[in-house]
Formats: sequence, C-alpha cells, structure tokens
Amino acid sequence: MPSPAALEKSLQTLLNERATRANLAYFRQQAQVDYRAVDVADGAAFSALIQDIYHRYGRLDGVIHGAGLIADKLLIDKLPASFAQVFDTKADSAFTLMRELRPDSLKLMVFFSSVAGRYGSRGQSDYAAANEVVNRLAWQMHWRCPQTRVVSINWGPWDTAGMASEGVKRQFRERGIIPISQQAGCEFFTKNCSMARSVKSKSLLEKGPGQRSIRSSCRKCDQNLRPKARCRLFNRYLSSSPTAK
Ligand SMILES: NC(=O)c1ccc[n+]([C@@H]2O[C@H](COP(=O)([O-])OP(=O)(O)OC[C@H]3O[C@@H](n4cnc5c(N)ncnc54)[C@H](OP(=O)(O)O)[C@@H]3O)[C@@H](O)[C@H]2O)c1
Repeated sequence: MPSPAALEKSLQTLLNERATRANLAYFRQQAQVDYRAVDVADGAAFSALIQDIYHRYGRLDGVIHGAGLIADKLLIDKLPASFAQVFDTKADSAFTLMRELRPDSLKLMVFFSSVAGRYGSRGQSDYAAANEVVNRLAWQMHWRCPQTRVVSINWGPWDTAGMASEGVKRQFRERGIIPISQQAGCEFFTKNCSMARSVKSKSLLEKGPGQRSIRSSCRKCDQNLRPKARCRLFNRYLSSSPTAK
C-alpha cells in the first residue's frame, strides 16, 4: 500500500504532465513547438541540447530557467547527495547556460529564483544557496551580455501551482504574506520581462489584506545593503501589522 506522501507525489506528477500537455497543445495553436526533455544537472547533456538548438535554428532569442527542486530538512539532517542534487539542479544548470548561451543573439534571460535565496528559509539551505548563486550569476550575465535583458525573479510562494507545500504556504500566511495567485504571478512576469533592459533582480511577495505587496527591485539589496540591514528590511516586510511600511 503506497504511503499518503507517495500517492501525493504520483498525483502531482500526473497533474504536472497533464498541464504540460495542455500548455503544449495551446502553444501549438500559435507557433511551431520543438519540445525536448533533458536533465539540466547533467552538464554535458544540457550543453549538447543548447548546441543542437544553435545548430538547428541559428540562434536562441530567449531563455527561461525554471528547473528546480526542494528536499527540505535541517542542514544537520541533510545528506551530501541530496544537498548536491538540489543545489546542482539549479546552480550548475545556470552555469551551463552562462557558458553556452551566445550573447549576440540572446535578447532575454529569465531565472526563476526564490525569496529563500534572498532571505534564507528554514530547512532549505541547499535551495537557498542555489538561488542566491543564480541571483549573482544573473548579475554577471547582465554585465557580460550588454544586449540581453537579464531578470532574476525572486518569487515568494505561488498559491495553486508549483512546489510550495501547503505547510510552507501556511507559514507564510501566518506571517501575513499571501501566496501569489497565478494571475498576479503571470502579470508580474510579463511586465518585468517585456521592459527595456534596465532593472535586473526582482522580488515578489504578496502581502495580506491591507498590506503592501513587495514588488521591489533588489538592486539595492544586492549592491548596498549589508546582511544585517537586509534582514531588517525583510523583517519589516514580514511584519504583520497592516500599517507596516
Ligand atoms: N512555486 C513556488 O512557490 C516557487 C517559489 C519560488 C521559486 N520558485 C522557482 O520556480 C521554478 C519553478 O518551480 P515550480 O514551483 O513550478 O516547481 P515544480 O512544479 O516542481 O517545477 C519544477 C520544474 O523543474 C524541473 N526539473 C527539476 N529537476 C530537473 C532537472 N534535473 N532537469 C530538468 N528539469 C528539472 C521539473 O521537471 P519534472 O517535472 O520533469 O521533474 C519541473 O518542471 C523553480 O526554479 C523554483 O525554484 C517557485
């Protein structure tokens, strides 16, 4: 008899596959779609895929890096292999992109990062480290690719889709932060990816009723704030007082 956790995982896989099929069908109504699957933590395989795209199509205009996984446990309980899997999936694959993408044709590079990287998150040291590496890589890429708009979105938890568990969403709600609705997330994404090359690293956390949403550029945090000041800033945002600024 499978455990409830195993059942939940199988159900999630089924739902994800269904969503992928529906999205592909939708895209195919308006564009030619070439769908490939690769383990992005396998640097050689991922590089080969990128090279093949250049060989076949001559250029790559835009890339959205969304691969990531979590395996939450306190650092003391984490096994090295599990830490590496979480870290490498996100960070190594971002390095591969950095190595293989050609700045001359690349117009847009979007990384799906997380507030866990910006501010830390209990049980997610591997995931947080990987996301902050991605944020830093995004800056490197920004300087290295002057014609590319590079955006690293530090998402808060999404509500009805994605990897944030009910427990994590509950913890955020208790701190006055409501998970991001699909509509708000999509609008934020579209707005920030269609701007001219200027602002580079963004966070999105939705606050509860009567509170401000955080849709801030992290440039200040990245460049000017010391860790203590960064924590103060985050605590201020997490304050549950409706009048918190
Ligand atoms: N949802 C949130 O609340 C949230 C918050 C902050 C940041 N993010 C970030 O947003 C991105 C998307 O997350 P999500 O919420 O949509 O989670 P998700 O539903 O679990 O999607 C993660 C995706 O990463 C892919 N992936 C994992 N390991 C891979 C590997 N080794 N090679 C290739 N693909 C791999 C998965 O593919 P398979 O399904 O084939 O395994 C899946 O499509 C992630 O980078 C995540 O860190 C999400």
